[in-house]
Amino acid sequence: MKIVLATGNKGKLREFREMCDIEIIAFSDILGEMEIIEDADSFKGNALIKARTIYEKLESDEYIVISDDSGISVPLLGGEPGIYSARYAGEGASDKDNLHKLIDTISSKGVKKTSAHYTASIAIVSKYGEYVVHGWMYGDIISTSRGEKGFGYDPIFVPLGYNLTLGELDEEIKKSISHRAKALELAKPIIEILKRKF
Ligand code: IMP
Repeated sequence: MKIVLATGNKGKLREFREMCDIEIIAFSDILGEMEIIEDADSFKGNALIKARTIYEKLESDEYIVISDDSGISVPLLGGEPGIYSARYAGEGASDKDNLHKLIDTISSKGVKKTSAHYTASIAIVSKYGEYVVHGWMYGDIISTSRGEKGFGYDPIFVPLGYNLTLGELDEEIKKSISHRAKALELAKPIIEILKRKF
């Protein structure tokens, strides 16, 4: 039995590996790079698409596949970028392009700070069934990028109860409060039970 993470996002892979005490293989190390069309209308739906696609491509029932679909939602923007966070600035956009599009969008509304939240949906697919769990992190986004830590929208996200962005805060803090960490805490016992069944 092996655990495979269905993501090509280096930031997510690093965070998963640092937060888990189990060995996690990147799907690309087995299957090479591949594009997965995420066309569901929810984080949960897209997480399931990713995990199911990789599970099927692996063509072996000896794997537990985990995926993470995540993003940032801004109530001022009607919940955008939400499930479109990875392609907010267009197909093939980089993390930096998306970050600057979000800064430009809130700035164009004359806003320097507004509430936002991250969502992480983690899907687990194996021969013993499919599971999905969620985690959230609430805070504000600001119109100036600050700090180099984390990835994606982290340089503008200030978690509730803090004054610094996730780009500035110690990475250990993000690991203790993040949407991904919270979802992973729910995923871990499921993975443990599945592991024992193999
Ligand atoms: P996905 O890989 O399709 O789930 O896209 C996730 C998008 O949300 C990417 O643009 C990420 O940069 C962004 N995102 C998700 N989680 C985080 C995070 O923890 N910090 C910063 N950006 C994140």
